[in-house]
Amino acid sequence: MRRPLIIAPSILAADFGRLADEAARAEAEGGDWLHVDVMDGHFVPNLTVGPDVVRALRRATSLPLDVHLMVDRPDKFAPAFIEAGADRVSIHIESPCNVAATLEAIRAAGRSPGIVLNPGTPLKAIQPHLDRVKLVLMMTVNPGFGGQAFMDPVLEKISQLAALRDEKNLDFDIQVDGGVSENTVGKCAAAGANVMVAGVALFRAQDMAEAIAALRRACNPA
Ligand code: DX5
Ligand code: ZN
Repeated sequence: MRRPLIIAPSILAADFGRLADEAARAEAEGGDWLHVDVMDGHFVPNLTVGPDVVRALRRATSLPLDVHLMVDRPDKFAPAFIEAGADRVSIHIESPCNVAATLEAIRAAGRSPGIVLNPGTPLKAIQPHLDRVKLVLMMTVNPGFGGQAFMDPVLEKISQLAALRDEKNLDFDIQVDGGVSENTVGKCAAAGANVMVAGVALFRAQDMAEAIAALRRACNPA
């Protein structure tokens, strides 16, 4: 089955002084989802935004809000992001919490649960959860900061995950996040990813609409 290509601009690379305008811009320029990076200063060495910012983004755009929780206790924080209007909530397998119960709670709230894997974590770590998720996010950088270089070795893991999905008849999208650009997105699509997060490559482009179109072209070469 061929899955639709989704481009998800990452608000982390936006102008934080004008967040509502930036969210509206991502929608007007052709983004499909808005990716929101939540960092707690423990799970990753950086701090970003909380539920109140997600609530403000919810008012600023009708794009699905794709919330990526990089926090130690996603079980504690997921409900607040759901209440704030997150459509999708993804949690890291490396987070010290009951992952299965947290994914089930996200689903029970009517939102799309996702599981996230760091570049150094083996695929087998997420295998027990693959029938609980609508999305698997394969980090293509170590999480924490925007603007890092894409890590090519993750591509092999993406291919293995796509093969496993086919073999077991599972149903989830494969997302990539970190260093995704016109130069790297084609390899992700070829490996089997269909949801592309991009921060710097979109929000810092001269023309975001053209940058989004360039990502789409790179995924569907003639
Ligand atoms: C990294 C974040 C990413 C980040 C990607 O920890 O999860 O979503 O915004 O940024 P770029 O596309 O600039 O590498
Ligand atoms: Zn992210």
